Amino acid sequence: MCQKLIMGIIFVFCAANHGIAGNVEAGAQIFEELCIHCHRLDYNDKFGPGLAGITDRRDTEWLDKFLKDPAKMIKSDEYAHTLRENNKYGLTMPSLPEMQDAKKRQDMIEFLKAIQ
Ligand code: HEC
Repeated sequence: MCQKLIMGIIFVFCAANHGIAGNVEAGAQIFEELCIHCHRLDYNDKFGPGLAGITDRRDTEWLDKFLKDPAKMIKSDEYAHTLRENNKYGLTMPSLPEMQDAKKRQDMIEFLKAIQ
């Protein structure tokens, strides 16, 4: 009985920890809901740059900051600033309410890594 309880606690702890690492499937779902209107997953532009190769161009920290607050990054980060200066899409990267959630940003970044 006691052993089962301890195993249960370890399981819940590990499952919770695992969740923090980001979930590719959850990221894919967010992409289809929020990003697909503007981004393709190959190298071709849509209403924003194609996202193929993005995790080679940018590291996790940059992606996390940019997804959270693109407007702030465009002001403070040279790469993001150049991206905006070269913007030929007629639309800009929005600051999405869902991307204020750190877990959802991690899911998204895991998904972007997985599609490369
Ligand atoms: C309304 C269109 C639109 C939507 C929706 C959108 N983006 Fe963007 N995104 C852009 C544009 C335009 C840029 C180029 C930067 C700029 O000028 O704002 C961009 C830039 C980016 C970049 C940097 C690309 C590079 O080549 O460096 C990433 C990463 C990105 N978006 C990811 C996402 C993700 C993930 C979502 C969904 C959560 C999303 N975007 C939703 C329009 C959009």
